[in-house]
Amino acid sequence: MSSRPREGRAEDQKHLTLAEKQKYIENYDFIHCDESSKYEKVAKIGQGTFGEVFKAREKKSNKKFVAMKKVLMDHEKEGFPITALREIRILQLLKHENVVNLIEICRTKATVANNHRSTFYLVFDFCEHDLAGLLSNINVKFSLGEIKKVMQQLLNGLYYIHSNKILHRDMKAANVLITKTGILKLADFGLARAFSVPKADSKNRYTNRVVTLWYRPPELLLGDRNYGPPVDMWGAGCIMAEMWTRSPIMQGGTEQQQLQYISQLCGSFTPEVWPGVEELDLYKTIELLKGHKRKVKERLRPYVKDEHGCDLLDKLLTLDPKKRIDADSALNHDFFWCDPMPCDLSKMLSQHLQSMFEYLAPRRTMKYQQQMNQIVKTQDNSLIDRVW
Ligand SMILES: Nc1ncnc2c1ncn2[C@@H]1O[C@H](COP(=O)(O)OP(=O)(O)OP(=O)(O)O)[C@@H](O)[C@H]1O
Ligand SMILES: [Mg+2]
Repeated sequence: MSSRPREGRAEDQKHLTLAEKQKYIENYDFIHCDESSKYEKVAKIGQGTFGEVFKAREKKSNKKFVAMKKVLMDHEKEGFPITALREIRILQLLKHENVVNLIEICRTKATVANNHRSTFYLVFDFCEHDLAGLLSNINVKFSLGEIKKVMQQLLNGLYYIHSNKILHRDMKAANVLITKTGILKLADFGLARAFSVPKADSKNRYTNRVVTLWYRPPELLLGDRNYGPPVDMWGAGCIMAEMWTRSPIMQGGTEQQQLQYISQLCGSFTPEVWPGVEELDLYKTIELLKGHKRKVKERLRPYVKDEHGCDLLDKLLTLDPKKRIDADSALNHDFFWCDPMPCDLSKMLSQHLQSMFEYLAPRRTMKYQQQMNQIVKTQDNSLIDRVW
């Protein structure tokens, strides 16, 4: 047997010089983690809190497009970020038509130039649009049947992830992707986590600093740490309303203001409508609006104009998470089972060949809202107050 160090064996590395070690790392073939150079970046399509997202083309096929989400490395610390690991583990578990598909994890070559620290990417099947981008484009018009199809697919995705004991915890229009053939995919599992059904004697203690403020449910705003799937159902309700209003319905600037907007729409938080609310940490410390009537249907009707739609919204935007409708019951709601039935989105989308993403779209500002309301006004031929 030869005593000469064989190439490619980790335990032999201590015998190598620094230059040899560097070369060894550069040429190391990570069999489960291809090099990102197999893809060619085409455009930047997202800038999230946790990193950039690019549209890229697979060089081999030259046709297949992917989305590459850069893993933000914490350079202060050694190793792969735990938050990204959690996102990957969850994405590997979830395989469903209405959940974004993670193809693989890629890395850049470790070189002297990057101090031998690779950049990692989560590589996904590419989706042409996100819902926030579509909603911010005035030329994109959804019929009632198309809105039903969007919501049916969104609830299907939520039903699937909740059945797999996963909470999304960041429901918002920008995290809902739609392919050019009209298939909706829940995306961005960066804040997702597994949950267990709490037992009577031991409560869960999850963080309540999750969900983008405008989509955050009242129980989280009041400090609940023993929450579950209803947090995502609230977000589904906010997104559903947005399908008609075209911009987020409750745009609070602070947590306090968000709670105010919620009680102005859904009524005051009282133990009568929400037994147990008085036990939440912030119920007593935060000044809550008193005496507000629930106005969900009344305020949304001018936009929605469909009674089943208003009723489902009312059930999704229910203050008490225990009474809030779950994904299964929502899918059985009459909204999805009466005319016009949910209908395919591909025909409508084929009129909009350019991809639409929140990052590339103009911000949905007051001016945009005024324009949208102008459209509602002229279509209806009567004046509708700016509700939001
Ligand atoms: N598979 C995909 N296909 C097309 N676009 C995508 C895909 N994945 C993500 N994007 C785009 O990139 C944006 C950001 O992606 P994602 O939400 O996963 O990242 P994030 O860093 O967690 O973002 P944020 O902090 O803004 O929520 C999305 O809103 C979407 O526009
Ligand atoms: Mg996101």
